[in-house]
Amino acid sequence: MALVSMNAFLPRAKKEGFAVGQFNVNNLEYFQAITEAAKEERSPIIFGASEGAIRYIGLENVVALAEVAAKQADVPIALHLDHGSTFEVVIQCIRAGFSSVMFDGSHHPFEENIRLTKKVVEAAHAVGVSVEGELGTIGGVEDDLDVAEEDATIAKPAEAIHFWNETKVDALAIAVGTAHGMYKGEPKIHFNIIDEVAKAVDAPIVLHGGSGVPDAAIQKAVSLGVGKINVNTENQVASAQVVRELLAKNESMIDPRKYLGPARDAIKEVVKGKMRLFGSSNKA
Ligand code: 13P
Repeated sequence: MALVSMNAFLPRAKKEGFAVGQFNVNNLEYFQAITEAAKEERSPIIFGASEGAIRYIGLENVVALAEVAAKQADVPIALHLDHGSTFEVVIQCIRAGFSSVMFDGSHHPFEENIRLTKKVVEAAHAVGVSVEGELGTIGGVEDDLDVAEEDATIAKPAEAIHFWNETKVDALAIAVGTAHGMYKGEPKIHFNIIDEVAKAVDAPIVLHGGSGVPDAAIQKAVSLGVGKINVNTENQVASAQVVRELLAKNESMIDPRKYLGPARDAIKEVVKGKMRLFGSSNKA
């Protein structure tokens, strides 16, 4: 199968009440682990590539790895730019072969975010690429993004609905209280905002900062109209733990396959668990 846009599965996810995971890729082992999990769970997946990950892996490598995964997996796979910061980056990714992009204009004033997002939607839709937009600012640290807790702003429902009516993005990320990275306490999720916005727009709501959110909160969010959930940190925590323990125990271990292989297995298990929790297993 070739890479598909998120529209190959997100409309159905919202209608049937499940969410598809966006699992961020950081190196080859992430691509392999996420793909294996998708095959075993028969789940659609979204590879999320941030600008930092693209710099690290290389743009052509990211596309090649995603294309090989799609060809071998026989489940729908989208390759999605995570938090694209400019029109130029979005177009570079589309030209390179991405099937989906996020344009994060949330740091711009509201009207400017609408104007820039519309421009991205027009260009992306012309070539069958799906678009995610963002409203409100999600707290925490992820690559180039660092939003202090006091600067994270919760999306206003009326603005989010207006934003969607103007831009017609295929997936709508709204800041509802989750943050990138692990939480110190329990995140306070504004379910009423998810409910109000999801009822008023066709597009599924996207929940960023999916790591460390209690299972019951995830299930409630999905039942209210969240159709895409982003996960990165939990995979990093699980794989780093394995590498740390193995290297500490075996001073002579130098073959990367010996510690990155088990790290890859740990990522696969986390991803499989998320697929079951999100309800995307057997939805390929
Ligand atoms: P976490 O790292 O908190 O899972 O968030 C990932 C994310 O939202 C990517 O955009």
